[in-house]
Amino acid sequence: MSRTRLAMLAALTLVAGASGTALAAVPHGSGGLAAAPCTVDYKVLNQWDSGFTASVTVTNNGSAKSSWSLKWAYAGNQKVTSGWSAKITQSGQNVTASNESYNGTLATGSSVSFGFNGTYSGTNAVPSTFTLDGVTCNADGGTPTDPGTPTDPGTPSGKVDNPFVGAKGYVNPEWSAHAAAEPGGSRVANQSTAVWLDRIAAIQGVNGGMGLRDHLDEALKQKGSGELVIQLVIYDLPGRDCSALASNGELGPTEIDKYKTQYIDPIASILSDPKYAGLRIATVIEPDSLPNLVTNAGGTAGSTDACATMKANGNYEKGVSYALDKLGAIPNVYNYIDAGHHAWLGWDSNLDPSVQEFYKTATSNGASVNDVTGFIVNTANYSATKEPNFKITDTVNGQTVRQSKWVDWNQYVDEQSYAQALRNKLVAAGFNSTIGMLIDTSRNGWGGSARPTGPGPQTSVDDYVNGGRIDRRIHAGNWCNQSGAGLGERPTAAPAAGIDAYVWVKPPGESDGASSAIDNDEGKGFDRMCDPTYGGNARNGNNPTGALPNAPLAGHWFSAQFRQLMQNAYPPLS
Ligand code: BGC
Repeated sequence: MSRTRLAMLAALTLVAGASGTALAAVPHGSGGLAAAPCTVDYKVLNQWDSGFTASVTVTNNGSAKSSWSLKWAYAGNQKVTSGWSAKITQSGQNVTASNESYNGTLATGSSVSFGFNGTYSGTNAVPSTFTLDGVTCNADGGTPTDPGTPTDPGTPSGKVDNPFVGAKGYVNPEWSAHAAAEPGGSRVANQSTAVWLDRIAAIQGVNGGMGLRDHLDEALKQKGSGELVIQLVIYDLPGRDCSALASNGELGPTEIDKYKTQYIDPIASILSDPKYAGLRIATVIEPDSLPNLVTNAGGTAGSTDACATMKANGNYEKGVSYALDKLGAIPNVYNYIDAGHHAWLGWDSNLDPSVQEFYKTATSNGASVNDVTGFIVNTANYSATKEPNFKITDTVNGQTVRQSKWVDWNQYVDEQSYAQALRNKLVAAGFNSTIGMLIDTSRNGWGGSARPTGPGPQTSVDDYVNGGRIDRRIHAGNWCNQSGAGLGERPTAAPAAGIDAYVWVKPPGESDGASSAIDNDEGKGFDRMCDPTYGGNARNGNNPTGALPNAPLAGHWFSAQFRQLMQNAYPPLS
């Protein structure tokens, strides 16, 4: 698996090429405002002392439109700073939001959603009047839609809102044995890690190892009379890992039918066995795939032919929507879609098209937003959950930290702020307001002797950021077997607002890729981002890789890495 990022300037070109699919035909809650020509639901999703995020859903009860323009006026000093899924302009207190090229069509009875960030001081009152193409909305009784009532469709088909709450995590006996065999490994061997179904043969078990039923049977034993959540990584798309080579898979770019019938269908049939109905099964759907379609599939320096092929043939999208649909239909399965990490998608020019790509894929080929419990960030990556010594709004000598080399104009400096902001954007785009985020914290601890104990010096933005950042990578685009990394937060349910759990999806001690070419029958290639002597590529700004030497194939046990991860654990191991 590769965890790539993309230079911001290159990313900007993607906006023009964004998908032409209408973004936001979202189900509208029962409004009780049938007489109005249009209804508007303006929701403040998140608010802090000087800023806020809002989403707006407009329902057209009049005749069909091919373009639209919604206007409102603020009573206070709110200022829209950036929006998505609509073109938003402001003059004084008057705001106009017009359709984007891809969501101008608004049939009678259909809805469109968009969102934005803004600043304010004092109170942040919801506007009282909205007009759609000059006609006043919500006007049957003069009462604006109650901003406090989200159009919450409820939790789909009886699933709990957050499957991690009140449940213990499944301990994979195979991973646990590897961990326990290392000196000091018993300190972590009882942690819950995900089971990767990384090839068709993994369903039955590779080389006499545990198959899916073996894991589920073991999970039932561990569960006892309480609740248990087992995490499965669905990872076998055609043309897998298109921006890198280390985790190329067994299926060629066109083998979508084989993916459906020999991979997803058998998994779905096992998970549907009533015997397993009492387990909570959390799936991580196809790491890296949709983000690769957004940033690496054409028109940018980081693009690859393999990703362009997967974008053109649609087989990542077809595979992901098929998996969401089949697995989401099972009452005790909770799907989490992979959403990269902040140093890959954290520029708005990447993130907004990503949100569109997620929504498009999750609402096509039979899948719906009700098949999605949430999203996961930082899968198998090393980005810190929180950077304690600086934040995105900090400035040094009047210069924003965003212009430091490390941050490179990103909108986020860590995974938690990225996950929470992304969640708001996803809800504004039409995902259920009940969605939650996961953060893979298995290897993002960055403790040990190199961990800074406070902010860097204020001599320049670079000194400040480099002196204070706990993520000690050479470049945030580095993703393979990172030197200096440590175990991160232990798996924890509901650690922060909008976050369903910290999880250990990448089992610590399993390699990200071989540091030199190794023959194998797993389809895995040799990616030089895993070679410590390589000078990098466009996706890591042509920097050294920071990879550990002597690494085995992706997924194979890498003892030296595991020992380093324990040594640099943060919080430290006791
Ligand atoms: C590998 C998989 C492996 C997984 C977990 C991926 O990078 O490609 O084969 O199961 O990591 O270690």
